[in-house]
Amino acid sequence: MGIRSMDELCEELIGKRLTAASGGGEKAVAKQKEKGKGTARERIAQLLDPGTFVEIDEFVTHRCSNFGLEKTKPLGDGVVTGWGTVDGRKIFVFSQDFTILGGSLGEKHADKICKVLDMALAMGCPVVGINDSGGARIQEAVDSLNGYGNIFFRNTISSGVIPQLSVIMGPTAGGAVYSPALTDFIFMVDKTSVMHITGPEVIKAVTGEETTSEEVGGAKTHNQKSGNAHFIAKTERECFEQVRKVLSYLPSNNLDDAPVLQTNDSVERTDVSIRDIVPTNPNKGYDVHDVLKKVFDDGVFTEVQPDYAKNIITGYARIGGHSVGIIANQAAIMAGCLDIDASDKASRFIRHCDAFNLPIVTFVDVPGYLPGVTQELGGIIRHGAKMLYAYSEATVPLFTVILRKAYGGAYLAMSSKALGADLVFAWPQAEIAVMGAEGAANIVFRKEINDSTDPGATRLEKIDEYRKAFATPYVAAERGFVDRVILPEETRKELYLALQGVNSKKVERPSKKHGVIPH
Ligand code: HXC
Repeated sequence: MGIRSMDELCEELIGKRLTAASGGGEKAVAKQKEKGKGTARERIAQLLDPGTFVEIDEFVTHRCSNFGLEKTKPLGDGVVTGWGTVDGRKIFVFSQDFTILGGSLGEKHADKICKVLDMALAMGCPVVGINDSGGARIQEAVDSLNGYGNIFFRNTISSGVIPQLSVIMGPTAGGAVYSPALTDFIFMVDKTSVMHITGPEVIKAVTGEETTSEEVGGAKTHNQKSGNAHFIAKTERECFEQVRKVLSYLPSNNLDDAPVLQTNDSVERTDVSIRDIVPTNPNKGYDVHDVLKKVFDDGVFTEVQPDYAKNIITGYARIGGHSVGIIANQAAIMAGCLDIDASDKASRFIRHCDAFNLPIVTFVDVPGYLPGVTQELGGIIRHGAKMLYAYSEATVPLFTVILRKAYGGAYLAMSSKALGADLVFAWPQAEIAVMGAEGAANIVFRKEINDSTDPGATRLEKIDEYRKAFATPYVAAERGFVDRVILPEETRKELYLALQGVNSKKVERPSKKHGVIPH
């Protein structure tokens, strides 16, 4: 063969590019579409700012010759990798291509993912993984398993350094689920994404239980029941909007600050209607979202894990354009009690915010930890301890707003002064005490009540006496456990001033390898 012309060589490259871009071919792409799923490249295009994707490794192929695999050497090896921007900020991305060998992960497929994970870490940029895969490439055997191990290792090393977001847009089975589980958040699309360690057939064979993929691994299951996932979307497009929104609140890495967005919502804004949201009667419920909407910029609150452990709320908002993380007891669900799931959900989010320099605002209305045999046997002690640990460990600015009840151990767990809160605010109806007035009066005044000629009336009198003396914010304010008692409508302005006051916070802790967090 003679020396080829430049045009020929360029044609060859263009041809290879087209082949790589066509994925698994028309038939496989049509099958993908029939399932309501996009292709790997379409998904990247939906995630990134238009025209910003830069692909790498599009000609990588596997080098496996087991079971005749050498006859099929698709370009790209079933995963599209590279970088681009979201809202003008650089992120790295990989997107598994189910149309090529079922998006299965072999040695080179894993190498490609590892390369972008390494680049993301070196460049200090977030990474988004789009998962759609039949799992370990069976023909590549232990090379494939090792590939997963290399990914898990990188996910762990990057944890808390760069934001890592996992999008599930198809099957994720076996140990493959552990890469997403090691990242900050998992996004799933209803009906088309599935995650499980073992599917229905294996479960039936081993335990005899009858189930479906959707029941053990669907988006609703993981968002509502298992707590493995954090966001659910109806469509892929909606899912990418969620990813972009979460990224907008986060810095690119742990040494950076989150972007500050312009807002026309004045930090001086006061709205007295906020007084009507939280009833002064401690037995009445309300929706704490209504408080959050009044306090933060433009009434926007982006909830994380909205469908799991609804007795506590986690999410992001902005104040004066600055991102903050929010934890709030939800009085409308189980009176806002802390239980195992709520403690797990909140403590992980606290650590996420702390890792990425987001100040945390905690809204407190908590009657205590949930009593019950199930909770005790389920380990509420070690799960509840995670809250204490996470707040105590956090070095970001911590602000606490006590809306109403703050009783007992749960008072301490919800970002109390003792655990390191920088500023604790209390509304006038706040009740900071060991327990509610009724329970406390029954114990403290038992003798007086029992000895009384009218125990019922004496009991009510004593409850009232206790409430006036102790179920207030002022005892804690006298001790300095509450820094400021504020009018509800002052909350927005006070929080903004608090942010300004504390934004130069520096905390020195004893050097250690890492703590031993209760699990
Ligand atoms: C090699 C695979 C594959 C795999 C799918 N394919 N999974 N090839 N290794 N793991 C191929 C199929 O052979 C098929 O090739 C093409 O991808 C599309 O797959 P279909 O079965 O036609 O698609 P669908 O009907 O949508 O079913 C999707 C599926 C099914 C449910 C994911 O393919 C499946 O069950 N695959 C095996 C899943 C699995 O057991 N994986 C291992 C899990 S254990 P052709 O040529 O026919 O188009 C694991 C351990 C990881 O992952 C441990 C990490 C520590």
